[in-house]
Amino acid sequence: MYGNSLEKVRTVEEDPERLREFEERIRSGEKIEPGDWMPAEYRRQLIRMISQHAHSEIVGMLPEGAWITRAPSLRRKLILLAKVQDEGGHGQYLYHAAETLGVTREEMIDALLSGKAKYSNVFNYPTLNYADVGVIGYLVDFAAILNQTMLARCSYGPYARAMVRICAEENFHKKQGQDLVIRMARGTPTQKAMVQDAINRWWWPTLMMFGPHDSDSPNSEVLIRWGIKTKTNDELRQAFLNQIVPELHALGLSVPDPDLRYDEESGNWIHGPIDWDHFWRVIKGHGPCNHERMQARRQAHEDGRWVREALAAYASRQGRNDAGNGGEGLAL
Ligand code: 3HC
Repeated sequence: MYGNSLEKVRTVEEDPERLREFEERIRSGEKIEPGDWMPAEYRRQLIRMISQHAHSEIVGMLPEGAWITRAPSLRRKLILLAKVQDEGGHGQYLYHAAETLGVTREEMIDALLSGKAKYSNVFNYPTLNYADVGVIGYLVDFAAILNQTMLARCSYGPYARAMVRICAEENFHKKQGQDLVIRMARGTPTQKAMVQDAINRWWWPTLMMFGPHDSDSPNSEVLIRWGIKTKTNDELRQAFLNQIVPELHALGLSVPDPDLRYDEESGNWIHGPIDWDHFWRVIKGHGPCNHERMQARRQAHEDGRWVREALAAYASRQGRNDAGNGGEGLAL
């Protein structure tokens, strides 16, 4: 995947002094910037994580985008339009952040479309009605906020800075979803039943979004060591549970987990067992909507081919013009 930039590379034993300086910089809270020395594995991990994050943002436009033309009011249409447009922008920030590490946009897109690269599990489920738009905003985007607020403190400068802008917009995404869920929970019995059904369907995929349990998370150790992640998968999942469960209960909504319990001693909401077999099936391409999502992305890429070819033709003609007049800019 991505040539040798993503092949698993050895951590850099051959230069222990530079590795020691690098880790000291991270311990002191310095940001690592594109031109700085970094272990090949640090670069590889960032390309993996940032490119998959970008893929998630772009694929994440599809489930909600399907409801833009069917929004229940002009107000809801405008809100959803803005949100889905934001997600596309988040994807661009993140692809740019990944490009600072030496991987090309083409390599990243090829990896997604060939199925080599992952995107978030949570976008492989259908959006059955407009309550899903509210629950995705409230649950999925809140989960994203917890994760991305953590990443805003990431040791790699371009990723951390991209997160600052993304988190600001993500808060709007969560608030618009929460507003819709509250209105429906307080609406007619039919509306409350719709939003409860949506919670039942999105609850477990959202808990899985945070990744496998720490004991089953092969990347976490090096990501924490080098300050890419500053919290573990389980820590973020626990923060999510502790905030969202009381809020849903306050709305008279339930959580589809018969084993969920409150632990007085720790002050934590403890969830029941997560079906990790289902999680791995979904991220290996066998979820309810994986085929549909990839088909849409491949079609969009094909539809955009003429734009890429026109830009390439213009750029090469531009290059010939510049060369023809000694490089003094465009021949007028
Ligand atoms: N979906 C798909 N794959 C997942 C996953 C998920 N929710 N969680 C973990 N995985 C994959 C990992 O990518 C890894 O596979 P890989 O080595 O081939 O890439 C494998 O499962 C093992 O998981 P690890 O815990 O070891 O992986 P990480 O340490 O990278 O942790 C992560 C996973 C928490 C998703 C981390 O990569 C991360 O924080 N990524 C950046 C944030 C991100 O990608 N968010 C996606 C959602 S985007 C979004 O929310 C948009 C918003 O607008 C709704």
